[in-house]
Amino acid sequence: MADPITTLDNLLRPAFDAVAADAAPVDPVVRASEHADAQANGALGLAKRLGRPPRDVADEIVAYLNDSGVLDGICDGIEVAGPGFINLSLSPEFLGAEVAALIGDERLGVAEADTARTVVIDYSAPNVAKEMHVGHLRSTVIGDALVRLLGFLGHRVIRENHIGDWGRPFGMLIEHLIDIGADAAGEGLSQGDLDGFYKAANAKFDASPEFQERSRQRVVALQSGDAETTELWLRLVSMSTDYFNTVYRQLGVLLDDDDLMGESRYQDLMASTIERLDAAGLLVDSDGARVVFPDGFTNRDGDPLPLIIQARTGGFNYATSDLSCVIDRVERLGADLLLYVVGAPQRQHLEMVFEVARLAGWLAPPAEAVHVSFGNVLGADRKMLRSRSGDAVKLVELLDEAVERAAAAVADKNPDLDDAARAEVARLVGIGSVKYADLSTDRIRDYVFDWDRMLSFDGNTAPYLQYAHARICSIFRRADLDRDAFAAQWSDDPTAIIGLGHEAERTLAKRLLAYPSVIAAAAAGYEPHTVCTYLYELSQEFTAFYEHCPVLRAEEPTRRDRLLLCDLVARTLGHGLGLLGIDVPEQM
Ligand code: ARG
Repeated sequence: MADPITTLDNLLRPAFDAVAADAAPVDPVVRASEHADAQANGALGLAKRLGRPPRDVADEIVAYLNDSGVLDGICDGIEVAGPGFINLSLSPEFLGAEVAALIGDERLGVAEADTARTVVIDYSAPNVAKEMHVGHLRSTVIGDALVRLLGFLGHRVIRENHIGDWGRPFGMLIEHLIDIGADAAGEGLSQGDLDGFYKAANAKFDASPEFQERSRQRVVALQSGDAETTELWLRLVSMSTDYFNTVYRQLGVLLDDDDLMGESRYQDLMASTIERLDAAGLLVDSDGARVVFPDGFTNRDGDPLPLIIQARTGGFNYATSDLSCVIDRVERLGADLLLYVVGAPQRQHLEMVFEVARLAGWLAPPAEAVHVSFGNVLGADRKMLRSRSGDAVKLVELLDEAVERAAAAVADKNPDLDDAARAEVARLVGIGSVKYADLSTDRIRDYVFDWDRMLSFDGNTAPYLQYAHARICSIFRRADLDRDAFAAQWSDDPTAIIGLGHEAERTLAKRLLAYPSVIAAAAAGYEPHTVCTYLYELSQEFTAFYEHCPVLRAEEPTRRDRLLLCDLVARTLGHGLGLLGIDVPEQM
């Protein structure tokens, strides 16, 4: 049960090819339309190519389709309309049988990808001893959705959390750790006061030459693998990652300690990365620093822009660890798709890294790297989201607030839930709302963080979709039916046809069958919002159906058919939200 639109597109192609004869072939371009179940627009383009009146060409295609009989049993109406559109209406038996086939299909019609790729997804990537900001939240939520989506399509997905855990500031951070004692540091860091720790160390660094000197020596000790220093560094890192884990658990994302692949992990590779760049003839000396000039990158004055590989002081750069990281992903892990879920400000850095990796031959087709970029989170004032004190927003506090606000909204909506049930629903709705608000806008765009909007039970929000799901569960509860058992009764019948007498039922059936193309599109563009839009439309169409088509009061077999449609809607909502990392309650 592929999307009928895809089926029609494939079936129309030979007719278009036949009419095109020797002219270059034209795509039928079949789409869902207000005027018919499906509309093919391709005859217009073909007519232009043939220099003939479009309606004549469309008529000829329709005649060919009728003669060949390919659409028998699929379409019960094929007509030319307007300037040369071909309108197609699907037969109720075909549609009914196609949706019925979804009942027994765990994958809801979605096939695995033809070729499975090895995909490394680089996401979240906060920095040790620094607060995770909303940009890290976006990366975490979008990355988690892509992990689930691509995994579902059968790709081998490797999660990597490229935390910032190396570099010059660690000398100062370790010295500060020694000064205040590990216990005091642990209290602050593991409880999310990361910025406080960082700022205190920084202030000392600015004020005291003695502290500066200690910090410098400490960096050297760290880089040379001094045991005591390494031990202190590890403590510092684990205090931060403990805190990151708290946020991940609260968010319900898949990341854990096994996914940590911070900058420090690539230090041993650095020397060989530089040798290989040198051997490829790419390294240039620039004021004592070693750099690469990839083509096509210039600064504001139009001068070529270098990617700095090794500073004059001998230290390696962020770019060097990213290049080593490309080598590791392609050569050790065998990845052929590298996704970087990183905010838009790092676009130039990543593009330069990718280009240098290509020049060095480390990123050769079929291997490719993609910057899965995203915009900012804005406050109500349309500036970068900040807390009331003007600092970065603490993610733990943000998520706690989401759950609290959701608890109030849920209590309002359903005062009958007991305390335990309400707390659980509040958690799913609160966290779901924050994630959904992030995922439902085109990721490239900025979005305004707005509590009232994201927690509303109306509109393109998590609560609206979760509520539609809960409502269907409650229909089954009222009928005293177990949803799975009910569906299982009908899942093995290959001759089953769901009756679709009402227009609202047809609409719902077509939407359900479109799920595979939506998933494919979302994966192809790394665009979770495509799934959100689809689920929102499905919920709206379900609401319309439920208004016009009584379910439990209907006569058999209509009652059965409507219950099956309800179950399919609930499953699709649960599945789609699941791919976005959002859970659905059974009741709300
Ligand atoms: N730690 C970086 C930051 O907070 C993000 C790292 C992204 N990944 C990468 N491979 N460069 O900005």
